[in-house]
Amino acid sequence: MDTRTDIDYLFEPRGVAVIGASQNSAKIGYQVVENIVQRGYKGRIYPINPKGGEVLGLKIYPDLSAVEGDVDIAVITIPARFVFDAVKECAAKHVKHVLIITSGFSEVGNAEEERKIVAYAREHGMRVLGPNIFGIYSAAASLDATFGPGGILPGRVAIITQSGALGIAMIGKTAAESLGLSALVSIGNKSDIDESDVLEYLTRDEATKVILMYIEGVKHGSRLVGMLKEVARKKHVIVIKSGRSRRGAMAAASHTGSLAGADEIFDSIMRQCGVLRAENVQDAFNWAHFLADAPLPKGKESVIVTNGGGIGVLATDACEKYGVDLYDNQAVLKDTFAPVMPSFGSSKNPVDLTGQATAEDYKRSLEAMLANDDMHAAIALYCETALFDTDSFADLLRVEYQHYKEKKPIIFSLFGGEKLEAIVRKLRAEGIPVFSDVYDGISSLGALYRSWRNLNAPAEVAEDVQIDVAAAEAILDRAREEKRGFLLANEAQQMAKVLGLSMPRSILASNLDEAVRAARTIGYPVVMKVVSKDIIHKSDAGGVALDLVSEKEVIDAYQAIMRSCRAYKADALIQGVEVVEMVKPGVETIIGARQDASFGPIVMFGLGGIYVEVMKDVAFRAAPISRREAHAMVSDIRSYPLLLGVRGEKRKDIDGIVDVAIKLGAVVDKCRDITDIEINPLVVYEHGQGVKAVDVRILFQTTREVR
Ligand code: ACO
Repeated sequence: MDTRTDIDYLFEPRGVAVIGASQNSAKIGYQVVENIVQRGYKGRIYPINPKGGEVLGLKIYPDLSAVEGDVDIAVITIPARFVFDAVKECAAKHVKHVLIITSGFSEVGNAEEERKIVAYAREHGMRVLGPNIFGIYSAAASLDATFGPGGILPGRVAIITQSGALGIAMIGKTAAESLGLSALVSIGNKSDIDESDVLEYLTRDEATKVILMYIEGVKHGSRLVGMLKEVARKKHVIVIKSGRSRRGAMAAASHTGSLAGADEIFDSIMRQCGVLRAENVQDAFNWAHFLADAPLPKGKESVIVTNGGGIGVLATDACEKYGVDLYDNQAVLKDTFAPVMPSFGSSKNPVDLTGQATAEDYKRSLEAMLANDDMHAAIALYCETALFDTDSFADLLRVEYQHYKEKKPIIFSLFGGEKLEAIVRKLRAEGIPVFSDVYDGISSLGALYRSWRNLNAPAEVAEDVQIDVAAAEAILDRAREEKRGFLLANEAQQMAKVLGLSMPRSILASNLDEAVRAARTIGYPVVMKVVSKDIIHKSDAGGVALDLVSEKEVIDAYQAIMRSCRAYKADALIQGVEVVEMVKPGVETIIGARQDASFGPIVMFGLGGIYVEVMKDVAFRAAPISRREAHAMVSDIRSYPLLLGVRGEKRKDIDGIVDVAIKLGAVVDKCRDITDIEINPLVVYEHGQGVKAVDVRILFQTTREVR
């Protein structure tokens, strides 16, 4: 039975009960009632406390059963030991959502009580927000059911936060920065309702234009990825994630897992979803503020206008850093700006009006830029000079912002003394995108451009890969019979065949004659490796010979291998040798897929050797993936130019890598028993020449997962 209730009731409840409503203004149970009253909630408020009486002019009910009207949400503000009984009362009253503000559950090790409450609530058709939260604010219902400082302004930004303290602090900050909110949800321990549930509502909420999320850990990553991909194609989504240092803890058992930790995975997957990741709260707020009001650009070319050369250069650097493209048609720039600048100015972008520019020159430049349809966004910089009257300059910016507001994105950056700083603060409070630091402004414009590209991107549909799951499982089952959770080389070969991966040709030879024949069949040069379950480290035992180019070399190598392996381990049972095609050199890459603790099936890619191990130059995607997503993953790595071909080399077979990435993504998605699959190296040849999986390692669960 699906016990989900409609998430809309959480944001637009008809009636709200506060269980633990207190007359004591120092208590959370009082502050929540006070905020609900002060914000002007449109529905009915039911304070609950067995003591009865009145609070803030509202009747206090002794218990929920005494309430006549519908109660869609119940905010619980009583000590942890009483919460379960209160939840039972809520069920009897057919409450739809219980919001448990109370702390003292899984965050302090009391997970059992939390599980019990959630299970009971779900069985009775209720959802649980929290516990360990500060509440919810919803502009749609004029509801502030938090114990925050109040004063939340209605607006277009929705905040979802896992951290309570930070969330409460954000309330104060939004008020200080005049940032209007459409919703604010504290998700705390996420025992039931999590980010994805909240996003389900916000994606449909017309008032919400920007979603800002503070995340500490991801629980149901696959669902979150699906939700974020959908939301980020409709709205701007910003995420701040803490816990970068947790990378070690997240490293999986496999080699791939130890190459990069959770943070890189999170980062890559947010990019895949089209979510903007902010390094810190200030960036996130700057972006949210800007994105909430900025019109979407009609193209990607921006123009910088400045009265200072130095700051113009800084802005140019910032544009490169944040992915803001600059308009570059020199003839048009000259025609547009020559009339408003002295002969020693520069009409190249950045357009430098020089320190001699007057307010009038500045105004005319901004208007000339606005009038040109090929100039899509404006970056207006100003260094304080004696030629400008600072007060009237503020008015000029107000007027220009009004002109731009609906038509083109514009950011202003003003640098100077206290008077100018005061203007920055004043204009920001009015919602005008003015920044002291040019990097902050351009970082916000860069965020708009990144989000704009996502908003325009087509929906990603994972490639439909046909995998013979039964054949793959049969290979695993045979290994399971020997209680093994990994495949031997020949089994990995069989698996590669099932997946359609191109591996070097290989033949098992049990004596010298067979080895010679095998080498002839495969064609020289070949590699020879000892096959023995008793010899794990073949090279150490002298059990590997490379680059054998003739029959004579095969015979000599065979005898040498047998001699040294016997010397290494006299009682080793040697089944024979594996004769393998000697792979031609190419670019060595590493590609893998696995079940990630947070995100479920994921794929990874990096260049081999030092690129992966020292530079940690790897990219990830949540699987299964589309062709475009696979391409994006490959091009995400810093060493990507090496695949495009440097120093006259030809482009490498990137499509071949993409094919393998798609297959690996599909196999870990379809066979959840496979915990880790890694191809190292995957040798990549020139474009059209394909790729070769030289070594395939597969780990899996020794017991089959029931699905
Ligand atoms: N039904 C209704 N009312 C009840 C019930 C009940 N079953 N049981 C007790 N009450 C009343 C109490 O009588 C009291 O009212 P009173 O002031 O009239 O006496 C009121 O409910 C509150 O109960 P107290 O025992 O006084 O509890 P107190 O207010 O001290 O603490 C609280 C309760 C706030 C839930 C506390 O246990 C707690 O968990 N605090 C932490 C909250 C928190 O930080 N949450 C995370 C937020 S995010 C962040 O990190 C900032």
